Amino acid sequence: MSAARRTSAARRTGAVLLLRGALAHVPGDPWAEGPAALEAWDDGGLAVGEDGRIAAVGDWADVRARFPDAAVDDRRGALLLPGLVDAHVHYPQVGVMGSMGLGLLAWLAERTLPHEARFADAPFARAEARTFLRLLARNGTTSALVFGAHFAVAMEAFFHEAEASGLRIAAGLCVADRGLRPELRATPELAYEESRFLARRWHGRGRLRYAVTPRFSLSSTPELLAACAAVAADVPGVWVTSHLNETPDEIAGVLAGFPGAGDYLATYEAAGLVGPRSVFAHDLHPQAGELERLAAAGAAVAHCPSSNLALGSGLFPLRRHLDHGVRVALGTDLGAGTHPSVLHEASAAYLGQQLLGDAGVTLSPVHLLHLATSAGAAAIGLADEVGDLRPGRWADAVVLRPPPGSTLAAVWAHADGVADLLGPALMLAREEAVESTWVAGKSVWDARAAEPATGVPAPA
Ligand code: GUN
Ligand code: ZN
Repeated sequence: MSAARRTSAARRTGAVLLLRGALAHVPGDPWAEGPAALEAWDDGGLAVGEDGRIAAVGDWADVRARFPDAAVDDRRGALLLPGLVDAHVHYPQVGVMGSMGLGLLAWLAERTLPHEARFADAPFARAEARTFLRLLARNGTTSALVFGAHFAVAMEAFFHEAEASGLRIAAGLCVADRGLRPELRATPELAYEESRFLARRWHGRGRLRYAVTPRFSLSSTPELLAACAAVAADVPGVWVTSHLNETPDEIAGVLAGFPGAGDYLATYEAAGLVGPRSVFAHDLHPQAGELERLAAAGAAVAHCPSSNLALGSGLFPLRRHLDHGVRVALGTDLGAGTHPSVLHEASAAYLGQQLLGDAGVTLSPVHLLHLATSAGAAAIGLADEVGDLRPGRWADAVVLRPPPGSTLAAVWAHADGVADLLGPALMLAREEAVESTWVAGKSVWDARAAEPATGVPAPA
C-alpha cells in the first residue's frame, strides 16, 4: 500500500498516525538560550492524534514504544519541520513578482497598483486567490497574515478559497482614501462598512481570522485610520496590519501628510491601531522612540528581507529591534519579495544581517528556523496552537525531501546528523523540495499527487 493510502486508512479507523523521519523544531527561545533552543532527532517520530493534534514527539524508538499498534507514514530521508509561518504576504501580487528596477513608490504606482486594480473582477480575484493559497501550501506555509485586495468582492472570494484551502489565514480588506489611483480609494465610511461586514462574516470562522488592513499611512487620512480602529473596536479579537518605515521618501511623505505626528508610528498610534494584535511590515528606518513604543505595546514587526533588497529599501536593524524587545517574525512580502517560500526569506535574512557587519546579528540555523516558525506563530497570535512540534500543538508540518540529483540532495549527502541538514535546507530547499504540507494532521499539499507542470500560456 502506498504511504498516502496508508495515511487515509489510519484516518478512517481514527487511529494515531506516526510519522517517521528526521525532525527539528525550536520550542525554546534562541535569542535567550542559543542553540539549546533547538530539539532535533536524526530518526524521529511524531505521533498525530485523530483530533489533528500532536500526541508525542521524540526519538523514533520511544514514540513507537508508546504507540506500538499505530499506522506509520515512513518519511526517512526527509526532514520534518513545523509548518512555516508567513507574517506578511500580499494576496493580489502574485502577478507582479520579479518586477525589477524600481524603488517602493515607483514600483507601487507603475507596476503593482495597476495590477491590483484588476481585483475588482470577482472571477479573476477568485482564481488568483486559489493560485495564491496553493503557492503558500506548496511552499510549506501553513499559517499566514495576508494583506488583502482593495475590493470587498475580491476578499469575499479570497475568504471562501482560504476556507477551502485548510490553511490558517488572517486577512482583511486593504483600505486607502488618498494618494493611490482612484479605483483603489474608498472613503472612511465605505472602508468601515465593508471591513466590518467582512470581519463579522469571517473572523473566527474555522481557521480564518480578520485583520484590519490600512495599506499604509501614506494612503490614509486620519479619518480612514480612525475608521479602521472603529472596526477593530466593533469586532473583538481582530488583527491589525500595515506597513511602517519602509523607505525614506515614504516616511517623508507620511510626515508631510500628518503634520502633527512626531514619527511614522505615531500616525497609527493616534488612531489606536498599535497593540499586541498589530503586525507592521518592514520598519527598516525606525526612531529609537518608535522601537520603545512598539515593544511597550507588544506589537510585532514582520521582517521582509528579500523585498527590502529587491526594492533597495534598506537593511533591517534586527539588533536594535531585539535590544528594544520588539517581537520580530518573517514575511515574504510577495510580490515585492522575491519568492513565496519562508525558507527563502530566512536565507535572505541571514544574508542581509551578514552585510551589516558589527551592526548585524549573525543568525544561526536555529535562529532562522525560529523566525520561520515559532516567532511567526507568536507574532500572529498562534503561539499556543502551532509553531513547534510539542504535544498539544496542532500537527502543522512540512516535509522536505530534495529531488534526486538536486543541489540540496548533494549537500545533504554530506550531513552528519539532523543539525547539519538545517542550514542547507534554509539556503536551498524551495518548493521543489516540499514533499508534503499538513495542517492539523491533514494534507494541504502533497507533491506526490501534484498536478502536471504548466508552461507559458499559449498565444490567444
Ligand atoms: N507599502 C504600501 N503598499 C505596499 C506594498 O504593496 N508592498 C510594500 N513592500 N510596501 C507597501
Ligand atoms: Zn507589504
